[in-house]
Amino acid sequence: MNLMNCDISAVLFDERRIQARIREIGQEINSDYEGKVPVVIGVLKGGFVFLSDLIRAITLPLEIDFLAISSYGVGTSSSGVVKIRKDIDIELVDRDVIIVEDIVDSGLSLQYIKDYIWKHKPASLRTCVLLDKPMAHKIDISFEYVGFEVGDEFVVGYGLDFAELYRNLPYIGILKEECYS
Ligand code: IMP
Ligand code: MG
Repeated sequence: MNLMNCDISAVLFDERRIQARIREIGQEINSDYEGKVPVVIGVLKGGFVFLSDLIRAITLPLEIDFLAISSYGVGTSSSGVVKIRKDIDIELVDRDVIIVEDIVDSGLSLQYIKDYIWKHKPASLRTCVLLDKPMAHKIDISFEYVGFEVGDEFVVGYGLDFAELYRNLPYIGILKEECYS
């Protein structure tokens, strides 16, 4: 067994389950945005694996851009203090924008990103998150598309990291507490 798999206490969502859910979300987006050319904005780095599978489940013409942020937090928790590390390149005025984010924990990062995108005056803005930790929200936050809900554990894989590792795991699993405490 390799080192990475030894750090995982449980697999929450395997590849098949993730792909099945992505096909469902893709179909929802196909019907919600019929006749439109949305701009899909991936939030780096965590959202890049999800985004790459999601766009192939969408049959509409679309444009892709990326926003890279870093949030300053202590250990595994976010502070809500966000810094933009890579800005958007596509003009968003009057466009239909879909933000693709890996996980909503406190909700502070996503709220910052939504406020930031609204300043670019899109025609519409919706958010698609792969994972939601409803018990961890610190603010009232809403999003239109969600892959799965998880509890208040630290999860890795399928783009999600701890200390930049585990992003390449093909499944989403719970990181053993001894790995980050
Ligand atoms: P929030 O601002 O507290 O909602 O945190 C959001 C960001 O923290 C996410 O976009 C992730 O990058 C990171 N994060 C929160 N929880 C987890 C987790 O369980 N695993 C990996 N990253 C996480
Ligand atoms: Mg993120």
